[in-house]
Amino acid sequence: MIRVVTGGAGFIGSNFIFHMMDKYPDDRLVCIDSLTYAGNLSTLKSVMDKENFRFEKIDIRDRDAVYKLFEEEKPDVVINFAAESHVDRSIENPSIFLETNIMGTSILMDACIKYNVGRYHQVSTDEVYGDLPLDRPDLFFTEETPIHTSSPYSSSKAGADLLVLAYHRTYGLPVTISRCSNNYGPYHFPEKLIPLMIINALHDKDLPVYGAGENVRDWLYVEDHCKAIDLILQKGRIGEVYNIGGHNEKKNIDIVKIICAELGKPESLIKHVTDRKGHDMRYAIDPTKIHSELGWLPETKFEDGIKKTIKWYLDNEDWWKDIISGEYQKYYEEMYSNR
Ligand code: NAD
Ligand code: TYD
Repeated sequence: MIRVVTGGAGFIGSNFIFHMMDKYPDDRLVCIDSLTYAGNLSTLKSVMDKENFRFEKIDIRDRDAVYKLFEEEKPDVVINFAAESHVDRSIENPSIFLETNIMGTSILMDACIKYNVGRYHQVSTDEVYGDLPLDRPDLFFTEETPIHTSSPYSSSKAGADLLVLAYHRTYGLPVTISRCSNNYGPYHFPEKLIPLMIINALHDKDLPVYGAGENVRDWLYVEDHCKAIDLILQKGRIGEVYNIGGHNEKKNIDIVKIICAELGKPESLIKHVTDRKGHDMRYAIDPTKIHSELGWLPETKFEDGIKKTIKWYLDNEDWWKDIISGEYQKYYEEMYSNR
């Protein structure tokens, strides 16, 4: 079995590669990633020298390069993690989101058709459903919830999802889509809430909470997401969408307080800053379909997952120290100073 994983030098893609290489040691895995600011080759160092692993620096928008790779490898399965993934950046500069997340997806699927790939899996997000009100805890996103996006990021992901379904119906491409809630765990880029707060707290820097911090996210340990995708690849029905989430809703402010407590830092570091434009209030997944059809359930409780994650950042300073020097500093200044 030959699998192509795109975006494997990023957060979830790298965790997925580790999961798959471990579970299917005889299969070949090819990672393509253009190594944007969010992609780190050092993340993949434990698999880089394995015989059944290949890395190629390829942009999914580069049709010729993608076709050449598919010609060489003739993959059985393609799993697309490659994306611009940060909502705040999409608010500042939407166009790269449309190019990578929509155009890149269509190029990958064209390649799948041309080289007769047996399965294309699109890694999508619960953000395509928009948000839920805080005063209706009875409401959850199901696969039938209408697409109703808020940010350029979520709109680009929704555009990609619609294209994936269209390629299935129009060209018969064997596709599946997963829409997961917020992930956390090792190798999470420090622009996102949890790693940003851990690293700032370690430096006794302000912890910038957008608005009142009442917004709710449904957090899932990254390994549980990877296992769910693996299961969908094995047993999922072609043409179907599967929501992934573990009923673990938390307010942002509570997440930040948990991180302070775990690290023994004072809550006085918390600073409420200007809210994100168009900020989604609440995400919450109904995972009934993936549970009843495929038997998936999350395995890591948040209390354990957050401890493991904080320990990982404490033990792997070398990984994030380089990232937060240089370009990241400029990003941080632009995004957070005068906020
Ligand atoms: P990430 O930003 O950490 O990683 C994205 C990776 O894609 C990086 O390695 C980057 O170099 C690569 N990439 C970007 N543009 C590329 C291009 N044009 N060609 C090739 N590679 C390119 O993102 P992540 O958090 O790991 O998210 C992975 C996927 O999962 C995304 O599709 C995202 O929408 C989805 N998702 C993320 C979450 C979450 O909580 N992080 C939740 C649900 C779904
Ligand atoms: P984020 O990790 O960017 O994921 P998403 O926007 O895709 O859910 O943000 C998670 C939540 O945390 C979101 O409600 C925005 C909020 N947030 C802050 O309050 N401060 C920050 O510095 C960041 C990065 C996010």
